[in-house]
Amino acid sequence: MANPSTLNPANPSIPSAPVVPLKGESVDKRYLSERVVNLKPSGIRKFFDIVATMQDVISLGIGEPDFATPERIVQAGIRSLEAGETHYTSNMGRFALRQALSEHLYQRYQVSYNPATEIIITVGVSEALYLAMTALLNPGEEVIIPTPCFVAYQAEVILAGGVPVELPTRAIDGFQVDPVRLEKAVTSRTKAILLGFPNNPTGAVASREVLLEIAAIAERHDLIVVSDELYDQLVYDVPHICFASLPGMYARTILLGGFSKNYAMTGWRIGFAAAPEQILRGLLRVHQYTIMSAPTIAQDAALEAIRNGQEDVERMRLEYNRRRLLIVNGLNRLGLPTVEPHGAFYAFPSIAATGMDGETFAQKLLEEERVAVVPGNAFGAGGEGFVRCSYATAYEKIEEALNRMERFMQRYG
Ligand SMILES: Cc1ncc(COP(=O)(O)O)c(C=O)c1O
Repeated sequence: MANPSTLNPANPSIPSAPVVPLKGESVDKRYLSERVVNLKPSGIRKFFDIVATMQDVISLGIGEPDFATPERIVQAGIRSLEAGETHYTSNMGRFALRQALSEHLYQRYQVSYNPATEIIITVGVSEALYLAMTALLNPGEEVIIPTPCFVAYQAEVILAGGVPVELPTRAIDGFQVDPVRLEKAVTSRTKAILLGFPNNPTGAVASREVLLEIAAIAERHDLIVVSDELYDQLVYDVPHICFASLPGMYARTILLGGFSKNYAMTGWRIGFAAAPEQILRGLLRVHQYTIMSAPTIAQDAALEAIRNGQEDVERMRLEYNRRRLLIVNGLNRLGLPTVEPHGAFYAFPSIAATGMDGETFAQKLLEEERVAVVPGNAFGAGGEGFVRCSYATAYEKIEEALNRMERFMQRYG
């Protein structure tokens, strides 16, 4: 049994690496590239490292489903292994999986991707993002990124030699992109817009009206839109709109999606990128020299997920929805105003009433009440003054976390 102080918060059965304090974390400036030296360490990791040293913490900090992968999907992985599927697949991934994905996307969104040439299976959306940015960007080209957003977006752009241009979204707009400000951010160096909806960390789902305006801007300025739709099936009361399904947008969209969140498969590491053939070939060039092919066993498990996993997705979605209502009502009641999130599994309350910044709030809440949340500025400029609370954790734990936060707000609210 591992020492509890070194338990991994994402998976308590695996001991964490020893905690390395991040303050003043230094890297070898003599040998490492400037690109890497200048990358900021992820603000999420910092909090996980602290949480891992403490006991009796309720973590609302985790960005992955608390559900285990559904049994039928696990069994498909086991069958694959037992059948000796231990070799590479084609660079693009198993054809059966690409075909099933193509049908799935057509059924859900009426977007049509040729499974032979327009879909590539990747190691999560993480790899798909890396491929898209590396394939698209020349040095100095800009990518407009609405923030707050997933922590890797800015880093992926920088690693590919590009320049991330943050476009903060605001709580008063329900964290929707403001098209007027978006268009003002376009310059002669802008190559792409990187969208992540349903959004991590705000839970915002982009409305059709806003997406249509973004589409018009992309058209006017001849931009590519990279659309990360990893949480597409986790929406509550509103539809998810696939960006590529909007009129004219198939031709200028790189659609990214995956299995991590919808099917509770984070550890299997399967995602995909879909785009018109001539663009996808660019991503494939990068993929074949860096990754070769996504894990074979995991691809077979993903095939089972897409063919037969819909009931499981719905079961988990309904449970997330129950927790969503609990946490959003609870936070609002405590004086932490929270825009209703309609997607993913995050609430993003404003902490303005406490007069603290996100880091101070998260640190004090953790030390004094043993509740872990992530400071909003970890997700980019738009996130200061907010914290991210994940509700991918058990209902009872959320209830207890709210009780603890109530005590905290009595002192600081
Ligand atoms: C919006 C978003 N995109 C991509 C990822 C990475 O996901 P994957 O496990 O598919 O690499 C995450 C993970 O938290 C995410 O929240």
